[in-house]
Amino acid sequence: MSPAREIGMSKLEQSSVKSTAHAVSRRDVLRVTSAAAFAAGMGKLSFAYTPAGSSAATAEKSKAFPDKFLWGCATAAHQVEGNNTNSDFWAMEHLPQSMFKEPSGDACDHYHLYPQDIAMVAELGFNTYRFSLEWARIEPEEGFFSLAELDHYKRMLAACHEHQLTPMLTYYHFSLPRWFAIKGGWQNEKAADLYARFCEKATRHLGDLVGYASTMNEPDIPQLLNWFNLPGTPGGMSIAEMMQAGLGNVRKQLNAPEFSDFFLGDGKKTRDSLLAAHGKGKDAMKSVRPDMPVGFNLAMQDDQAAPEDSHLEEKRADVYAPWLDAAKHCDYLGVQTYSRSLVGKKDLPAPKGAELTQNGMEFYPECVEHVVRYASKETKVPIIVTENGIATEDDSRRVEYIQRALAGLKRAIDDGVDCRGYIAWSLMDNFEWMSGYTPKFGMVAVDLKTQKRTIKPSGAILGNIARKNFLAS
Ligand code: BGC
Repeated sequence: MSPAREIGMSKLEQSSVKSTAHAVSRRDVLRVTSAAAFAAGMGKLSFAYTPAGSSAATAEKSKAFPDKFLWGCATAAHQVEGNNTNSDFWAMEHLPQSMFKEPSGDACDHYHLYPQDIAMVAELGFNTYRFSLEWARIEPEEGFFSLAELDHYKRMLAACHEHQLTPMLTYYHFSLPRWFAIKGGWQNEKAADLYARFCEKATRHLGDLVGYASTMNEPDIPQLLNWFNLPGTPGGMSIAEMMQAGLGNVRKQLNAPEFSDFFLGDGKKTRDSLLAAHGKGKDAMKSVRPDMPVGFNLAMQDDQAAPEDSHLEEKRADVYAPWLDAAKHCDYLGVQTYSRSLVGKKDLPAPKGAELTQNGMEFYPECVEHVVRYASKETKVPIIVTENGIATEDDSRRVEYIQRALAGLKRAIDDGVDCRGYIAWSLMDNFEWMSGYTPKFGMVAVDLKTQKRTIKPSGAILGNIARKNFLAS
């Protein structure tokens, strides 16, 4: 079956969408978005033709998202910038026995190409761009803060404002300065203070331009890995056990006996250290800019109880509870979800016959609705979906995924859930950590040799929904 048929398009609409995969210029973006609007059926919708008060008007209104809803897409520095040479990941990627499929290299060269990339985010129709600081660039040696690198991020923030995009800034997204990892990373007892100092310096330099700040991305991952079940781990080890086994090897190769990164280390120790770092980091940010909205981004699976021997509540207490408590003292909580998990003693494999995405997760867009409801009920703070998407080579599956995810999110909002935004992962195909460049999460394709960007239909379609603040059926 052709991908376009799967999402129910006519022949004419299919040809419009096919023509959307091409390299980008400003004119192209506008052309692409109108073609995609047509493909998504939005070209037929016009408020002007609908008499107010009619049932059609009510139906139309029911598809509208709240005013000032944040629509955006996200990236993380190490995954897109390229040449992050002072980071722990760069060091690990270049080991003779590396756990990484390939090194990050130039990545998407977003470090240099951010002006065109940020312009593209706006031209697609979004009003928000989420990206992260790279601590390893800003503080490449302990205690040395580079003003030139801070200025780089200042220019990125300014570019967002120039394009009327609200910048959502993540201060820490997985990669660490190499010196920090060599000293034990998050296992180091001074880690939280060292992190708070970085937060303070960065906020002093950049805070005025930040729309929403996040202290950290997915700090619950080290604990979540203990529950994960992805196909193909040797001897049925949990991912965490597998990583732990790799740690000794990394330390030996780096000749760094204390080395520990975000993923490699004792999950519980890392969690406690990250909780302390979040608290101190948030205080440091607020001490400089008390009115800056500060939260963090939590990885949340849509956990569902397995029919037998479910440890769902145990998982929630272990992984999410400390962070949901921390979120109660934040201005917002970012939730990041990709799929569901059936929780038995650990997470169970996806049900037989389920459609799997490129990284082995079940295709399950309804996770957004469920997770947003749960996070809102537990924390009572405003929720923003700060990551959601799928890894696929077949962009029509991404289109269906996004449309179903948004329909679910809208149901939750209509039921009173205070959700203020939807930020898709990811703007571009990028460096997917240990899996290298194989998984394709992007709404824009990137030719890694020429750095040419090519907008996919999903980017154009979501951009159009964003522009209209309205979900087409
Ligand atoms: C992370 C991203 C990652 C994405 C897809 C999230 O957990 O924040 O860095 O690329 O998932 O795996």
